[in-house]
Amino acid sequence: MNGSDDALPNQRSYGTPPAFVREETGEHGFTDLFYNAFRASPIGIALEDMDGQPIFVNPAFCAMLGFSEEEMRQKHCVDFSPPEDAAKDWTLFQQLRSGSIDHYHLDKRYFRKDGSLMWGRLSISLLNHRPSPVVIAMVEDITEIRLAQDELQQSQATLQKLSGRLIEAQEQERRHIAREIHDDISQKLALLANGLYQVARSSEGFDELQHQLAPLLAHVSDIAQALHALSHRLHSSKLETLGLVPAMRGFCREFAAQHSLEVDFSSAEIPDGLSRYISLCLFRVLQEGLSNAAKHSGAAHVEVRLERGDGVLRLSVRDSGSGFNPSSAMHGGGIGLMSMKERVGLVKGTIAITSTPDSGTEIHVSVPIADHVEASQMNALA
Ligand SMILES: Nc1ncnc2c1ncn2[C@@H]1O[C@H](COP(=O)(O)OP(=O)(O)O)[C@@H](O)[C@H]1O
Ligand SMILES: [Mg+2]
Repeated sequence: MNGSDDALPNQRSYGTPPAFVREETGEHGFTDLFYNAFRASPIGIALEDMDGQPIFVNPAFCAMLGFSEEEMRQKHCVDFSPPEDAAKDWTLFQQLRSGSIDHYHLDKRYFRKDGSLMWGRLSISLLNHRPSPVVIAMVEDITEIRLAQDELQQSQATLQKLSGRLIEAQEQERRHIAREIHDDISQKLALLANGLYQVARSSEGFDELQHQLAPLLAHVSDIAQALHALSHRLHSSKLETLGLVPAMRGFCREFAAQHSLEVDFSSAEIPDGLSRYISLCLFRVLQEGLSNAAKHSGAAHVEVRLERGDGVLRLSVRDSGSGFNPSSAMHGGGIGLMSMKERVGLVKGTIAITSTPDSGTEIHVSVPIADHVEASQMNALA
């Protein structure tokens, strides 16, 4: 390599170009200029013949891999990479040779002289030069970017596993609390109500006492209803025993009654035997969607539709309320929208929230119902 590596590119001297270049030099000396630019480039560049043999290689490319220009020129382009990467490159190179493409891009690994691997982003283009065409290869070292991407992917996978486990733990806790409410607190409340009825019955003629007992009985009945609804919200036994459609329909009816809201539920062609994860995911999305519509939208009417598409189940929850900005709300304090997204992601589904100010909001979820979903979900939760 000619010139000092510390010198600024425009101060470096690259010596006399190889004969191949000298022969091409025009009267204005342009080739010298371009040859120097080629050598000064911080991006690795190689000129190859149509057989993939380097004709010359710039210093940046040599420095990336630790070989001298002479050593680089003695290699064939497929010698630079592990076989699987070289094979991909060679397939594209053949297409370039046959004229079916005139350029291509490929991220591939290169061997350094010390045996370590470098990730390079390769851009190849065909130069229809006379007397014979040549190929120009540009390589950028993207090793650090790839390492960062790999780390990001790993931490995303860990995060997804964690959120799967958190959701599962939350479901177990909900089931546990719902059972406690149903089996313990509700039973005790029933005993209390029964005792109060006995007192009321045996206090006939004591108007004042009866007068005081009436609101207490009404109060106990209200608490019993609220507990019943809470227990259902935490865990729907209908979902497990009757399946998704009856559970959703029942929930919409109860929700409408409790919130003085009209909820229109419709469903079509829903297959039996859905995975528990898919049913639970869609049920929780419905609960959060309805709860948000009641809490935030101000709408009097919500439409819920569950239908089957090509290999997918689709759920939409649409209100005609105030609307909001979903992307900024997603980063706000609430966890409802975020946990919808997580749950849908865990069953490999997609979620879209469209909202228009004063026209309302639509949550649209699509979940694949092919067999492999259950298996992949099991892995995420394992
Ligand atoms: N259907 C809706 N209509 C209007 N605003 C909504 C609706 N759904 C969500 N939002 C807005 O998005 C925010 C975040 O919702 P969410 O994550 O469920 O949290 P939370 O309900 O606890 O506030 C809400 O506070 C509300 O401002
Ligand atoms: Mg919410």
